[in-house]
Amino acid sequence: MAKLRLGIIGTGNRGIHCFAGAFVKSHADTVDIVAFADPNTPRAAKGAALLGIRPDIHADAEELAARRDVDAVVIASIDCLHEEHALAALRHGKHVYIEKPLATTVEGCLKIIEAARRAGKTLSMGFNLRHNAVIQRLHELAAAGTFGRIFSVQAVEHYHGGRTYHSRWNRLRACTGGLFIHKGSHDFDVIHYILGPAVRPTQVACFANVFTFRPENLPFETTPGVEPGPRCGTCPYRTRCPDVAISRSPLFDEETAAVDGYWPDQCMYLSEKDTHDQGIAIVQYDNGATAAHAEYFATPLTNRRYLVEGTHGRADADLHQSSILCMPRWSNDRIEHRIGPVQGGHGGSDPDIIRQFLASIRGGEQPRATAVDGLWSVAVGVAAERARQENRVVALTELFDTGSELAR
Ligand SMILES: NC(=O)c1ccc[n+]([C@@H]2O[C@H](COP(=O)([O-])OP(=O)(O)OC[C@H]3O[C@@H](n4cnc5c(N)ncnc54)[C@H](O)[C@@H]3O)[C@@H](O)[C@H]2O)c1
Repeated sequence: MAKLRLGIIGTGNRGIHCFAGAFVKSHADTVDIVAFADPNTPRAAKGAALLGIRPDIHADAEELAARRDVDAVVIASIDCLHEEHALAALRHGKHVYIEKPLATTVEGCLKIIEAARRAGKTLSMGFNLRHNAVIQRLHELAAAGTFGRIFSVQAVEHYHGGRTYHSRWNRLRACTGGLFIHKGSHDFDVIHYILGPAVRPTQVACFANVFTFRPENLPFETTPGVEPGPRCGTCPYRTRCPDVAISRSPLFDEETAAVDGYWPDQCMYLSEKDTHDQGIAIVQYDNGATAAHAEYFATPLTNRRYLVEGTHGRADADLHQSSILCMPRWSNDRIEHRIGPVQGGHGGSDPDIIRQFLASIRGGEQPRATAVDGLWSVAVGVAAERARQENRVVALTELFDTGSELAR
C-alpha cells in the first residue's frame, strides 16, 4: 500500500508535539510528512529538526493545500484560521483532520460542512475527548439505555494549566470567538455525545468573568519602581511568583519571536484579555433535557467530571480517577467502572484519534466526530458567548439562517 502523503498546517505545540510527533514515531511505515505550512517558517523548521524530518516548508497554507503530492492535511493553526484552512484543503480535494473548534462562527462551520460534502473526502473533527476511554465507556452506557432517558448532564472542568488561556493568543476573542468556543466546544461535544445525535440544543444562558487573573491579584508583593511582567521569562519576580511558567519549548524562542512577537508566557495577571477565568453556561435541549458546563481556570486541580442524570439512574464520571460510578434509580447498588491506566496524550485520546483518522481515510472506520458534531458544539459556544455579553438567554435559531437545513 502506498504511503499517505501528509501536510500539516500550523506547526506550534499541537502540530509538532502531538501530530507530527505521532506520525513520525508511530506511523512512519504508512505516512510521509511531505510539507509543513506556518508563516513562522523558523518555527516550522525547528519542529522538523526536533523530529529529524525534512518536509518542505511553506509560509502560506494555500500553497501546501494546492500541492498535488499531498493526500491529507492536518489543521493545527489558531482557531480563527480553521475555516480558511479547511476550505482551502477541501477545495484542493484533500482529506482533512481539523482541530477543535471546527470554526469560530456558525456560518464558518456551515461552509466547511458544505465544502466537505462537495469534496467527498474524509473530515475528522478533532474532538479527542470522544477517544478518551472514560468518555467512550460513558457514551456506551448511555447509548445502551443504562440511565434511561437522560434529562441532565453537568460537565465541570478544573484546569490548573488554565494559564495557557491567559498567556497566549487564546486569551483574545478575535482569535477564538471566546473560551466557550475554544475550550467549551470539547465539553459541549461530550454532552452531545452522551445525549445522542437526535437531541439538539435550543437555548443557552451564560455567566462568566475574569475573577482571579487581574493585575490587582498578583500573588506577590512588588517593589516600587520594579515593574512585574510582561512575561514570565523576563519578569523580575519570576523566582517569587507561584504561578511562574517559563516556556522551555524550542518552538518559542528569540528566533521565532523575532518573526511574529509570539511568546506563550505572557503574565496571566497583567495580560490584556477579553476572555474569562471562571464561568458557567446552561443549555436547554429540544427533548426537555438540560445541561450545564462550568470551567474553572484558577484552581489547584486538573480534572473533568460529568454528572449524568436519567429516568433509570445516574452516573458520576471522573476523568482524573479514570472511573464511572453508576447508581440505578430503584436499588442500592453502586456499580463502579474502573478504566485504564491508558497510555498516550490526553488520556490515550491523541494516539487513538490519529489512528482513526488514518483508518477513516483508508475506508475501514468512520470518524467518531464529524463536521456536523463540530457545528453543534460551536453553535452552543457562540450562543454562550453572546448570552454572556448581552446578558440574556440566546435561542439557537438566532444563529442560523432559516434557509439552512440544519436550522430548526
Ligand atoms: N484537542 C485538543 O486537546 C487541543 C489541545 C490544544 C490545542 N488545540 C487546538 O490546536 C490548535 C493549535 O493550538 P496550539 O496550542 O498548538 O497553538 P500554538 O500557538 O502552539 O501553534 C499555533 C501555530 O499556528 C501558526 N499559525 C498562525 N497563523 C498561521 C497561518 N496563517 N497559517 C499556518 N499556521 C499559522 C502559529 O505560527 C503557530 O505556530 C488550536 O486550534 C487549538 O484550539 C487542541
